[in-house]
Amino acid sequence: MRLDKFIAENLPCTRSEARAHIQKGRVMVDGTLCKKADAQITGDEVITAAGKTLARREPFVYIMLNKPQGVISASEGKPGEVTVVDLVKQQFPRRQLFPAGRLDKTSTGFVLLTDDGVFAHDILAPKRHVPKTYTVVLDTPLTAEMQAGFAAGVTLADGQLLAPAQVQPLSADGLTVRVTLKQGVYHQIKRMFGVYGAGVNELHRNAIGGLWLDETLPAGGWRLLTEAEKQQITGGQ
Ligand code: URA
Repeated sequence: MRLDKFIAENLPCTRSEARAHIQKGRVMVDGTLCKKADAQITGDEVITAAGKTLARREPFVYIMLNKPQGVISASEGKPGEVTVVDLVKQQFPRRQLFPAGRLDKTSTGFVLLTDDGVFAHDILAPKRHVPKTYTVVLDTPLTAEMQAGFAAGVTLADGQLLAPAQVQPLSADGLTVRVTLKQGVYHQIKRMFGVYGAGVNELHRNAIGGLWLDETLPAGGWRLLTEAEKQQITGGQ
């Protein structure tokens, strides 16, 4: 939107008052004096007008990304590594985006990217119980022992007792399963199956809370969440 319109809406004042503030040198965009009423504003900028810092139109962004294999769940990687933030950062050059929750390099699926630290903390905090749902391909079929163990709470090889989780078969051969977790322990699913001697061949995150990955997104594809979709993550809490 135009700078004069943004100021009129957010100071607030009339359009002609906004233009007067701009012409008289009372408006800064990202710390630089701006005297162009028709300068285009994306909503990411920090704008001060007549001594007041104006709220951004859209304070935070929330992005659903379909992470491909080989991409790192981090804001910055080592030289030669591609991160989930690299996949979107051209469109959001000024945002401090990070993934709210990690997927292993070999895992695929739903990663939420945001610059809203409070929201990210809320969906990751164990006491908020936001479930994450995965499709997992095993190298050995699911057993009743694994299902009972997941439901009771698996004790990992290092002695750590995990919260109860769900696992159900998705295929008749028992190799493709759906896992739902409310925790985010490092390599959690691989380590849980490892307790039963089973290996994980593929791991794809389908859902965070009540929001499912838009499967029309290709690997590496992303889109912004709507406000309603953001609410679906936390169940409106
Ligand atoms: N559990 C894992 O082992 N890996 C993931 O990427 C996510 C959950």
